[in-house]
Amino acid sequence: MRVCVIGTGYVGLVTGACLAYVGHHVICVDNNEEKVKIMKSGQSPIYEPGLPEIMQESTKAGRLEFTSDIAAGIAHGDILFIAVGTPALPNGESDTRYVEAVARGIGAHLDGNYKVIVNKSTVPIGSGDWVRMIVLDGIAERQKTKSGNASSTAGEETAEKIKADFDVVSNPEFLREGSAVYDTFNPDRIVLGSNSEKAIQIMKELYAPIVERKFAEDPSLPPVPVVVTDLSSAEMIKYAANAFLATKISFINEIANICDRVGADVTQVALGMGLDSRIGTKFLNAGIGWGGSCFPKDVSALIHTAKDYGYESQLLKAVVEVNKKQRSIAIEKLQHELKILKGKTIGLLGLTFKPDTDDLRDAPSLDIIEELNRLGAKVKAYDPIVSQTGLRHGLSGVLVETDAERLADGCDALLLVTEWQQFRNLDYSKMAKLMNHPVIIDGRNFLDRDALRKAGFRYVGIGRA
Ligand code: UDX
Ligand code: UDX
Repeated sequence: MRVCVIGTGYVGLVTGACLAYVGHHVICVDNNEEKVKIMKSGQSPIYEPGLPEIMQESTKAGRLEFTSDIAAGIAHGDILFIAVGTPALPNGESDTRYVEAVARGIGAHLDGNYKVIVNKSTVPIGSGDWVRMIVLDGIAERQKTKSGNASSTAGEETAEKIKADFDVVSNPEFLREGSAVYDTFNPDRIVLGSNSEKAIQIMKELYAPIVERKFAEDPSLPPVPVVVTDLSSAEMIKYAANAFLATKISFINEIANICDRVGADVTQVALGMGLDSRIGTKFLNAGIGWGGSCFPKDVSALIHTAKDYGYESQLLKAVVEVNKKQRSIAIEKLQHELKILKGKTIGLLGLTFKPDTDDLRDAPSLDIIEELNRLGAKVKAYDPIVSQTGLRHGLSGVLVETDAERLADGCDALLLVTEWQQFRNLDYSKMAKLMNHPVIIDGRNFLDRDALRKAGFRYVGIGRA
């Protein structure tokens, strides 16, 4: 099938590349020329395991192309994905201006052939109809220009034809950064929201190779469940899923804070709780809390939408508050160990919001650096990706070291912020000797406590009193 994906960020690029890999012909459009140049050269502008290989193979097979020309992308695609970012505004509301620009652009370039317009971006509930309206506005603007330029009848006929010839589908993504390629080929479910039977059929055909598990790790599993519903319910499913996962993490963090006070170990508690199949063991890792490009903005946007409709979401507000507090708990633990932080040097192990990504959006490290600086501490950091790529977007007040031993040198304490796999195997005995005080706060309960103690560290976890 012929697909156009507009917006090649963490979601759009993975979606486009994977759909090409399973056999569709995909054109990815981005208005950032620099990015397009990088992708055309076979490189991925983001760090995502497995993505460059998928991109290169699909490009070689002639099924994946990149352009900044939105008109060419729209002319090519029978299915047009909108996958531009929807960041949070300062008041928590979702910033939909990029979605609007793309929808208007689609309206301006529709050619009369039937198109399915797919909202992949996480958009506020009700946006499906709104996108439809903006596309129609785009068509009307074009028609106005046309009828101003030539005889109006021809323009009106075109507008009539185009108006009837597209449907909007909400198809939320559930990709985790760092395993987005795996998640695309092995989804738990696919959600399709639309009031058009025709559009739903086309989307089912598009996803058939994935639903039938032709590219799955275990092809013998039953087909992927496809949830077909209305537009608003599909949009709500995305918010509800992310809000629930964020709630699960804030819940276990609250339990961790109580564990710290009563002398229980939250890792044991999470295991004992999670083995109840009604609860499940996933997303029960206590630590310095959730960040990233999705949970913070999606939970805020849901609170904001609820408020717009006259409902105060007390539970979700508490989920956000617990998460905010969790970032300062690491600092309280540093104060407890070192007393005065002014003039001390703190080394952060990891900077990104989670491992296997280069993404720093709403990373707990950013707040921790700011607060440590405010308290007069010097902050250094080592992150396997940020240190290597030199990406520093949003980072200030921190000296980025090139390896873990340089990081440890002269530090008064280490704080593990991101659970990169390689942090399990560092030479901690050597690092302890390079430090002023061999103290480590394990902000993700990730390291081997006994091994660290043997290496000479004082080990402090979260909720592991
Ligand atoms: C996506 C979104 O779809 C968001 O709603 C969802 O919640 C998370 O995933 P993400 O992939 O993280 O966002 O976005 P980002 O990495 O910011 O990429 C957006 C891309 O769109 C960028 O490459 C940007 O250059 C491009 N863009 C933006 C356009 O091509 N046109 C525009 O008008 C605006
Ligand atoms: C999330 C959702 O999982 C995905 O379905 C959605 O579409 C996009 O947002 P992502 O933000 O990439 O994915 O990562 P995720 O693995 O969900 O982690 C989010 C944050 O929660 C990270 O900061 C992570 O460190 C934190 N987390 C996760 C915990 O603190 N504890 C856990 O048990 C799990």
